[in-house]
Amino acid sequence: MKQKKLYPESGVELTRFIARNYDFLLNTLSVGKYGKFLNKAIADLGIKPTDFIIDLGCGTGRNAAVMLNYLGETGKITGVDLSPIMQQQFEKRFEHENRVTFRQQRIDIPFELGEKADIVFVSFVIHGFPHDVRNVILENVKNHLKPGGIFAMLDFAEFDMQAMPALHRWIFKAVECPYAFDFVAKDWKKVLEPFSLEVVSEQHYLLRYVRLLEVKAGQ
Ligand SMILES: C[S@@+](CC[C@H](N)C(=O)[O-])C[C@H]1O[C@@H](n2cnc3c(N)ncnc32)[C@H](O)[C@@H]1O
Repeated sequence: MKQKKLYPESGVELTRFIARNYDFLLNTLSVGKYGKFLNKAIADLGIKPTDFIIDLGCGTGRNAAVMLNYLGETGKITGVDLSPIMQQQFEKRFEHENRVTFRQQRIDIPFELGEKADIVFVSFVIHGFPHDVRNVILENVKNHLKPGGIFAMLDFAEFDMQAMPALHRWIFKAVECPYAFDFVAKDWKKVLEPFSLEVVSEQHYLLRYVRLLEVKAGQ
């Protein structure tokens, strides 16, 4: 049976087929470049061995698996996602790893995990929501960060779609949802201001279409 979407135009609420084959599809569509990019972006995060990381919209756990390489015995990761298909893949990946846990949970409504994190990592999720819902997600991010903790948003950068080379624009419009078109046009430093989240660094990847924005919560 086809699942009804919470947000009909969202591209991050994946079909069953895409969810089941998510990692394979990314590897194929990126001609094998995705893994290298991901390793570089997570290396740039500056994870400390004792960190507690919350990964919102964690998908299959591919990102968590890379982040785990930087954690010591007391570091840990909680992945949060609403999809049972992602939950299955995530839990299978970490069945022998007690530093990683999964919580099935919508991130677009207020929720409470009961523990605050050193890093809240959100990768290729926030662009897929209407802007008022993004504000709820940002509130959730803020509420789950320790004072001085880092919100790491790995997602599309800010860019002018009209200034893109025609082929790039065609691909972006073909694979992305309308919410993403609104996301790339926003000034994210301004969007984050009301949440007392201060941008501390930004790194660009993949022809500067992707950005890791690191933002610090107030003390
Ligand atoms: C494009 S995928 C990105 C997955 C992962 N972060 C990555 O970078 O590989 C978007 C993920 O967000 C999850 N998602 C979408 N809407 C959500 C919601 N309202 N609450 C929680 N997770 C959601 C999807 O199930 C999916 O796993």
